[in-house]
Amino acid sequence: MNGSKNELAEIIAGLKATQKKISPKFFYDERGSQLFDDITRLPEYYLTDTELDIMQSHVAEIAELVGPEASLIEFGSGSSTKTRVLLENLTSLAAYVPVDISEEQLLESARQIREEFPHIEVLPVVADFTRTFDLPSPTVMPLRNIVYFPGSTLGNLEHNDALALLGVMHRVAGADGALLIGVDLQKDPEIISAAYNDSAGVTAEFNLNMLRRINNDFDADFDLDAFEHHAKYDPDKGRVVICLLSSRDQVVHIGGETISIASGERILTEYSHKYTLAGLAAMAEKSGFRVAKVWTDADKLFSVQYLTRD
Ligand code: TRP
Repeated sequence: MNGSKNELAEIIAGLKATQKKISPKFFYDERGSQLFDDITRLPEYYLTDTELDIMQSHVAEIAELVGPEASLIEFGSGSSTKTRVLLENLTSLAAYVPVDISEEQLLESARQIREEFPHIEVLPVVADFTRTFDLPSPTVMPLRNIVYFPGSTLGNLEHNDALALLGVMHRVAGADGALLIGVDLQKDPEIISAAYNDSAGVTAEFNLNMLRRINNDFDADFDLDAFEHHAKYDPDKGRVVICLLSSRDQVVHIGGETISIASGERILTEYSHKYTLAGLAAMAEKSGFRVAKVWTDADKLFSVQYLTRD
């Protein structure tokens, strides 16, 4: 077994629950990360391109708001093109601090960023950003902390967890700090549905890969042919429910346990919440932030928002 005992216990508990579920963190083994990368390039997956366009169109104004000698603290892996737009355009950054739980990926992307931006001090932090963690001290004392949280990853958390994470970001931003966050918006359900049910089947592969990964790392025996990718947008709740649908009655063995799964039963793998501008503003306010600026694309598919502390 490659995976840890704690993770195995967590997976088993999720499979024994009335609503079976497996945490989205198990998506991202090497193949899963590659498949997610492929998802971001799908024509139906509007999120990544739209967010990048918004960043490129407004980076001068973002740089103006951020001001000089800020410390840019990114929550999540810092390997993306969106981050590079900021690193290229912010004025005399004091430091770039990528925070991620996956050490190998984090250190590799930090190495690449250092190579491309030798004048920026890069201080990676290995941490679970949903908990409190210590910030490193840059050589140059930063004038303010700017937390960066792209990709609408906030939407993968349930409401209370999302509020708790905004609270962590509020503390990390500190006095005079701000949060620059990518937020996906509610829109025509057809557009959202297509983004999570692409015609090439990459998203289905990505979802099913979680079972392959669990077979590999936790010696389980999920039959990948007996599950189907299922993703449905619920406009009332403003979220996509992503799950694996069992196509027959079956049993799965994992960690000495036998799990029965009925035909038509679902294993929940992820939520992806979509927000209204008002809804996000209310959440921001509850966590002590004020929405200072919202940038969107012409079709109002996606938003990048600048939240300041009041
Ligand atoms: N954070 C991404 C999102 O919610 C993750 C994602 C995209 C995803 N496509 C998926 C998760 C399909 C599960 C299945 O948009």
